[in-house]
Amino acid sequence: MAAKPKIFLTRELPPETMAILRDQSVLTMNPHDRYLDKQEIIDGVRKVDGLLCLLTDTIDDEILAAGSNLKVVANFAVGFNNIDVSAATRRKIPVTNTPGVLTDTTADMAWALLLAAARRVAEGDRFVRTRAWQGWGPLQYMGGDVTGATLGIIGLGRIGQAVVRRARGFDMKVIYWNRTRLSPEQENELGVAYAEMDEVLRRSDFVSLHVALNDETTHLIGAQQLALMKPTACIINTARGPVIDEKALVSALQEGTIGAAGLDVYEHEPELEPGLYDLENAVLAPHLGSATIGTRTKMGNMAAENCLAGCRGERPPNLVNPEIYE
Ligand code: GLV
Repeated sequence: MAAKPKIFLTRELPPETMAILRDQSVLTMNPHDRYLDKQEIIDGVRKVDGLLCLLTDTIDDEILAAGSNLKVVANFAVGFNNIDVSAATRRKIPVTNTPGVLTDTTADMAWALLLAAARRVAEGDRFVRTRAWQGWGPLQYMGGDVTGATLGIIGLGRIGQAVVRRARGFDMKVIYWNRTRLSPEQENELGVAYAEMDEVLRRSDFVSLHVALNDETTHLIGAQQLALMKPTACIINTARGPVIDEKALVSALQEGTIGAAGLDVYEHEPELEPGLYDLENAVLAPHLGSATIGTRTKMGNMAAENCLAGCRGERPPNLVNPEIYE
């Protein structure tokens, strides 16, 4: 029987995944309930075959170089902007992600934020807890209508499409911008209309972001784009923080350039742009997009499977740099 591969895991994962990893590998794991720093990751990868890491770990060329036996970098996330994929490709190291399994869960989170921001749920919750509520009032915490409103989707991939499907129940008109336009059949099936990004921003009551983070999408939404939006509009971000210029967003929310925001991700997590903490019209979640027990377990098992396959020298199922096999 072949020796079990050595895997380094940068943070504890759900129990089912831990059982798989403990059974099928010689596992070294971050013993702390915190992020590892770069040196700790370097020390961790030195003698292992596989690295199983998180979106909060920045995996650069120096780390890859330290892992001289590394046969795979498996990310526990669908996004992989935290990994220097070009450097891994140069070193012929497969990089993997966890697509598909978190699509619905993340779309649900976008909707949770959309509804909470539109109907001022978090603000209302904070108010009730002050014990100052005197009872129902005709003008209390009036929000915006979701039913019948226009939803703008920026980035119509798997998660964007799942958000659109949920919008049907709210009789929304859906417009979208995507780097490549969908086919007329796909647009028809989803019930969406394509528009240029500025147009989507101008016409939407709710704008939900679903692009991957890369050089082209960093600060895709800045002061100029926010200024195009309706003063009542609400922006939702469950993608990656740097897609929005957070300083510009805080100004826009403070000045009433837009109405509200529902955010799950931030430009410099876990730090927020200071003004954001004090804004009543921002609903702030701590990056919970994929955080259900079922989904995190599926992501963990998928990442483990990718990692184990890479360690065995097989082509891992969810490869993001297939060019290494060309
Ligand atoms: C979560 O943010 C992910 O990319 O999986």
